[in-house]
Amino acid sequence: MPVLPQIESFTDELVAIRRDLHAHPEIGFEEVRTSGVVAEKLGQWGIEVHRGIGKTGVVGILKGEGGPGKRIGLRADMDALPIQEITNLPWRSTIPDRMHACGHDGHTTMLLGAARYLAENRNFKGTAIFVFQPAEEGLGGARSMIAEKLFERFPCDEIYGLHNAPNLDPGQIQVFPGPAMAGADFFDIKITGKGSHGAMPHMGRDPVVAALTLAGALQTIVSRNADPREAAVLSITKVHAGSAYNVIPEEAELAGTIRTFSSETGELVRARMREIAAGIGATFGVTVTVDIRNIFDVLVNHEAQSQAAAAVAAEIVGPENVLTEPKPVMGSEDFADMLRVVPGAYAWVGHAGNVPVHNPAYVLDDGILPVGASLLARLVETRAAA
Ligand code: NI
Repeated sequence: MPVLPQIESFTDELVAIRRDLHAHPEIGFEEVRTSGVVAEKLGQWGIEVHRGIGKTGVVGILKGEGGPGKRIGLRADMDALPIQEITNLPWRSTIPDRMHACGHDGHTTMLLGAARYLAENRNFKGTAIFVFQPAEEGLGGARSMIAEKLFERFPCDEIYGLHNAPNLDPGQIQVFPGPAMAGADFFDIKITGKGSHGAMPHMGRDPVVAALTLAGALQTIVSRNADPREAAVLSITKVHAGSAYNVIPEEAELAGTIRTFSSETGELVRARMREIAAGIGATFGVTVTVDIRNIFDVLVNHEAQSQAAAAVAAEIVGPENVLTEPKPVMGSEDFADMLRVVPGAYAWVGHAGNVPVHNPAYVLDDGILPVGASLLARLVETRAAA
């Protein structure tokens, strides 16, 4: 079975929805228009709609008429990025410094396509729960929905999500069990010394030398402390100190990100950062404060649900186009938080084009809309009855 013929038949409408969302991008927790479009469409198709979960989040509930079965959650993200689009497409962003550069307009549309199909084919067992999530891009939309009792109000036995993938070939779908995307922390380090004249360092406590030493020492965590068989990244991406040639400043700041695949490695990196910072503070007689914030959990796909998603993908794109070999990436995704609560899987759907996501020239291939919609719809039909 390729793409579901009924979904194929309304692909033009999906393309129109997607291009409208693309022209009106909204960043995290500001998806007022987008969530309005979603709620209106769901309502039109006779789906029960709940709004305002996680500020701009929307949940649709559709009970099948095929008898009792499992409750299958399907999740799409709705937010855009603060990027100025540089394509010349007729449906390019109409809002300065806002762009759907990660294709979440496509994900939202695919989930709408699955919802419409299921609303028109209600002979499935169980219940479909459509989760339209805000603020995936580092602002904590998934956590916000979970904190507002998403899964208590709308319990799910399984949940699935997907992301477009311009790095895969069109027609390919990738899904594999186990860790698939890295966990991410952001950190800020503040070093407070004692300012002095640049010519009289002995009168002060230089936070700049302490910061530079600390920046170098932190690089030993991945090379000397972490198990070399475990992936870990510690990148210092911001360094700020000083404002004059002849002044040793009072303060210096370092900031950056940590990426790891296991909670143990993440804990190790965080603990060593604090220990080294304290040691450098004592060495240089400065005060070092370390603020580390977890932003994304490690995304871990569950075994049975990954296999189920791969089997459904094989129906749609053919088994030869389903990639199930584990190939984790260091990028992060907040669907990870939902997978901590509900078993499920996250798939990548390949498409045409070679501009990567988050690039101002990125273009989503509308050809994947019916593919993603079919994958999501068939997951409900097959898994709710399993
Ligand atoms: Ni994305």
